[in-house]
Amino acid sequence: MRKHVDFLVIGSGIAGLSFALKAASKGRVCIVTKGSAEETATKYAQGGIAAVTYNPDTYEKHIKDTLVAGDELNDEKIVRLTITEAPERVNELVDWGVEFDKTESGRYDLAREGGHSEFRVLHYKDQSGLEIERTLLRQARENPNIEILENHFTVDILTQHHLGMEVNRSTPDLNCFGAYVLDKVNNRIDTILAKVTLMATGGAGNVYATTTNPPIATGDGIAMVHRAKGIVEKMEFIQFHPTALYNPSEKPAFLITEALRGFGAILKDRKGAEFMHKYDSRLSLAPRDIVARAIDNELKISGDDHVYLDCRHLDKEELLSHFPGVFAKCLSVGIDISKDMIPVVPSAHYLCGGIKVDENGLSTIRNLYASGECSSTGLHGANRLASNSLLESLVFSHRAFVHASNKIKAISFNDDIPDWDAEGTVINEEMVLITQTIKELQAIMDSYVGIVRSNLRLQRAADRLAILRRETEDLYKRSVIIEKLCEVRNLITVAGQIIRMAQERKESRGLHFSIDYPKPSDKGVVYFDLGNEL
Ligand code: FAD
Ligand code: SIN
Repeated sequence: MRKHVDFLVIGSGIAGLSFALKAASKGRVCIVTKGSAEETATKYAQGGIAAVTYNPDTYEKHIKDTLVAGDELNDEKIVRLTITEAPERVNELVDWGVEFDKTESGRYDLAREGGHSEFRVLHYKDQSGLEIERTLLRQARENPNIEILENHFTVDILTQHHLGMEVNRSTPDLNCFGAYVLDKVNNRIDTILAKVTLMATGGAGNVYATTTNPPIATGDGIAMVHRAKGIVEKMEFIQFHPTALYNPSEKPAFLITEALRGFGAILKDRKGAEFMHKYDSRLSLAPRDIVARAIDNELKISGDDHVYLDCRHLDKEELLSHFPGVFAKCLSVGIDISKDMIPVVPSAHYLCGGIKVDENGLSTIRNLYASGECSSTGLHGANRLASNSLLESLVFSHRAFVHASNKIKAISFNDDIPDWDAEGTVINEEMVLITQTIKELQAIMDSYVGIVRSNLRLQRAADRLAILRRETEDLYKRSVIIEKLCEVRNLITVAGQIIRMAQERKESRGLHFSIDYPKPSDKGVVYFDLGNEL
């Protein structure tokens, strides 16, 4: 099947939907999404969205918190524009119908999370993402100019490469003409030609075995852009959320929102002793990289499987009304958070790097924009400040919309692009070749490319990954395309970029921490070193 649309949006999370709702005023929009439209990381967001609303908060404070959390590797211009545009974007969410909790006086009930110097996180109980996702999706479904294709997996974006031209990362005027998309129901690959394409495919948490991310987070968009010779950057900065519920059989790991620590919950060890004072004066509310590393260190020293989050001293009624989701989930596994400490461990949560874009969300490939977790805007630097991700998606989808809609009249379809050619491929009868590769990949990343890294571990990861890459590329060339095979191939590409960029970074900065490059500011703390044992 061949299709022509003005705007092709790949992904139905906050980045894709907020762009689509605006783009629909300028042309026909097609959203492709690989599962059901609602199944996104957006839906699982708990804490909320950071924005300056009332005194005593100021833009300058939010900017400073973002730069401090990001270990000053952020692009300050991008930080400023994102934070100052935040209130306008949040108001649009409210106009679309998103409800944020309010206090009795009618003001937003603001929460606080790690690294924030003020209460500034707008939220809907502890289910902020669900409220945003279902509202935006309802709006998109009602819009006659938006078509949503569920169970459509994007395989690759289309460029001059598909016209037979040899391209590389310095080819000038590399252009995106749309994408090849696998219709999973009819088992065929469609050609969707578009004037403008937005990559909004989310993160890549599934490169690790333990992640808060849903199964859709396999880094597809980043891998596609890398293959198409676009630029991907800052992939070494993987954010591990300090507090996922310790429940080893559960995938994805259930998040215990940081807002709970903002509400007064305290991290403790098995004996009930607070330990964050050894690491940072902000204690349990230090930025995530510091808290996750501290927990990792405590676990290595104690040999325990988890630490605890203690809410028992907090007012029970308030706790239940603010965190009904966490309360219900914990109760379902036998933990009453008003009486029991919650066992928690760090878990892969967020990818700070991704597809390099400019201040308009434009990638290094013409007519290809990227927004949301798959993009790298410069906002987060070496570590994302909590609740800045939903915000970044809104700001950059808006900017991409404005930029693209000013250009779209001058863009035409490229009908010379051929349809997908599956000649010479056969159906792969051995799924084990794929499932086992995913397990091996995740084991490599967990063991060697986690919270604490070393040159030796990274080299070992690179060597092991090379074998998986060779085998998977070989399988890909001879197989009829299926989603799982594409996903494992994409995960390998993303893992390769994480490892390569981690090897290239000869310092400890933000989320990238290497025992071979100790940080001067960490001198007071001796991190447990397993480096030479591996
Ligand atoms: P997503 O919402 O993940 O959407 C990606 C979309 O792309 C999906 O529709 C998926 O199906 C589609 N897709 C992917 N690959 C393909 C493909 N090959 N073909 C077609 N479609 C594809 N951030 C905050 O700011 N505040 C929070 O409170 C917060 N809490 C979080 C809690 C959890 C448990 C998690 C996992 C994340 C949280 N985050 C939070 C991070 C934030 O939710 C995400 O970064 C953000 O929602 C990403 O939005 P997105 O639109 O970029 O991607
Ligand atoms: C949380 O609620 O702790 C997650 C917030 C985020 O990832 O920004």
